[in-house]
Parts: sequence; C-alpha cells; structure tokens
Amino acid sequence: MKALLLCGGSGTRLRPFTHTQPKALLPLAHQPILFHILNTLAATTIREVVIIIGPNGKPIVELLRKTNPWGFDFTFVDQPIPLGLAHTVLLAREALGNAPFLMHLGDNILDEPLRPLVNRFVCEKPDALLLLRRVKNPRHFGVARVDGKNVVQVEEKPRAPQSNLALVGVYLFSPAIHQAVRAISPSPRGELEITDAIQQLITEGKDVTHHLLSGWWKDTGTVTDLLAANQYLMKKLTPTVAGEVKKSTVKGVLRVAEGATLKNCQVRGPVTIGAGCRISGSTLGPYLAVGDGAEITDCHLSHTLVFAGAQLKGATLCNSIIGERVRIQGQQKTATARSLLVGADAVLEL
Ligand code: DAU
Repeated sequence: MKALLLCGGSGTRLRPFTHTQPKALLPLAHQPILFHILNTLAATTIREVVIIIGPNGKPIVELLRKTNPWGFDFTFVDQPIPLGLAHTVLLAREALGNAPFLMHLGDNILDEPLRPLVNRFVCEKPDALLLLRRVKNPRHFGVARVDGKNVVQVEEKPRAPQSNLALVGVYLFSPAIHQAVRAISPSPRGELEITDAIQQLITEGKDVTHHLLSGWWKDTGTVTDLLAANQYLMKKLTPTVAGEVKKSTVKGVLRVAEGATLKNCQVRGPVTIGAGCRISGSTLGPYLAVGDGAEITDCHLSHTLVFAGAQLKGATLCNSIIGERVRIQGQQKTATARSLLVGADAVLEL
C-alpha cells in the first residue's frame, strides 16, 4: 500500500500566506500541516509516499529531502496547474504502479488513526473505501449517499445535497481508480473531480464502501479553519521548556524551544514558542504559537499564529496570523484586541 499526498493547488483562500509558502508548510502548533499528516501516515504500514507538488511547492521537496524522521520513501510528482484531484491520480500513475493507495489531501487533518482503515482495506479489498463525516454544511464538500455499507452516489459540492455525509479528504483506492480517472471529463469548474471518478466506479458496479468518522477533522482551507485547527492541535501539546523562562507566571501548557527566552511574561497555555525567540513584558495565550526567531515585546497575544522571524512591539492581537518576518509597531497595550492577517515581510504601524 502506498500513499498519494496532494500538496498541489494554489491555496487562493489562504492568501496572503500562500504567496510565500505552500499551504502544506503553514505551521500549526509549531509544525507544518504536512508533518501532522505524515505523523498520522507513519503510524500505518505505508512506507512509500508519492507527493503532488504544485507550482510553489519547491520548498516541500527541499524540506523533505533533509528532514525525514519517519523514514518514508518519497517520490515527488509535479502538477504545474491544479486541474483537479483526479488529475493528480493521472499524473501519479507511474509512481503508484499497481499498488492500492491511500489518497490524502494536503490540507486535511484528522485525529482518527489511519492504521485500522488501512488494515480493513487490505483485508476486505474493496475498490474504494471513503471516509465520511456528518456535517451541518454539506454543500461545501463532496457528499455521499449510502445504503448500508455501500456508497451508492457521490456528488461534488451539490446545490441540493442528498445527505449530510461529507467526504473527508482521505480515500483508499484499488488500482481500479486509474481506469475510472481516465473515463471522466472536466467538471463545469474545469477540474477532473475525484468524486466523478468514484461515481464512475459505482456506476460500473465496483465495491465502494465507507467508514463513518466520529472524531475531529478539519479541512484547513480557510483562515478560520486554520486557526481552529491550531487550537485543537495545541490542546494536545505537552509542556517542555528547553529555553529560559525568567520572572514570568505560567498557567497551563508552555513549550519553549532551545535558545528562546521569556522574561516578565504572563503565560496562559497552551502556548508554544519557537527556537531562538526573544519575548518580554507580554501576556501570552491561550492558543498562541510563535515561530522560530520571533521577537515580541510588550504585547497581548491570544488565539494567534506568529510565523518565524516576526517582530512585534506593543500590539494587542487575537485571532490573528502574522507572516514570516513581519514587523509590527503598536500603540503599547490597548484593551481592544485587533484581528490581523498580515503576509510575509510586511511592516505595520498600528
Ligand atoms: O476537505 C474535503 C473536501 O476536499 C471534499 O469533501 C471534496 O469532495 C474535495 O473535492 C475537496 O474539496 P476542496 O474544495 O476542499 O478541495 P481543494 O481544491 O481545496 O483541494 C484539496 C487539496 O488538494 C489541497 O490541499 C490542494 C490539493 N490539490 C487540489 C487540486 C484542485 C492538488 O494537489 N491538486 C489539484 O489540482
């Protein structure tokens, strides 16, 4: 069994952050989204991972060539234009060979272990095993209609959904999917939809089954979802202080990486501080994740992601994402928190 991990696409809904880095490398709870996915995959029997790389995806290849604690055998496949999820299966045909595979969207994170699903797939040998989750807003997702354990219909973001069962971005396929993706045509939005390929399998009478997910799942496609996913993942952090914490009060979980210093701060965890950060006179958390080398002075920050190398002074922020190397000069501590989304290298005076 192999994995096909989709890190293509242009991440338009996450601009400005995806102007400077691929969506899969955006850090949540101090780790790229991609690493959260690879951690989950590493707990299965899968060892070969084919990764779809989009036009801005070179940093993913560079990072995985030097960082591979999971011992995966990676193959990178370029997708210069995001022509759809099924298009990635066409492109990865050679790399996948005749192996069954688990397809994982590069922006979906779930809490449920994948190992039992992989084992079930290997044991029962259906042509597709889909992960489904009941949702309140099925029109935003691929939607499935089921009859017992069989999936009898799938539709991409239907106007009139036939059920509230959304397709989660994890699918297990037999090699039969290769013939199905060749049989379909682009949808009205110009993409080769994986839902159309799955529908093709159903129409041909192939065995398409499902697993109903009950645990936490997030498609991190929007800023709101990204912050919500960060919040969820941060709840699972455990405390470690490798750097220095001086004259500060700490409640809840605090992680401070090596070489970082915190002075005269009030911490309400979970809070995670990257390597080499300099932080003083600030109120931190809850749900604050700060990237490596950031400098924070006299700030109030909560429910916020601060990316590597940012410099913040006198800012009060909540529900914010501050890009790499951004410089913000605020009006010292104010009672009302601002919610800012600031792309890399911006300079702001509040
Ligand atoms: O999150 C679950 C949903 O994901 C499913 O319910 C839908 O059926 C499925 O189509 C998908 O919908 P999205 O609108 O969220 O897909 P999106 O275009 O955001 O792409 C998902 C991931 O796949 C994203 O990380 C980028 C990557 N991708 C996307 C396209 C279109 C590629 O690698 N290549 C592509 O051509």
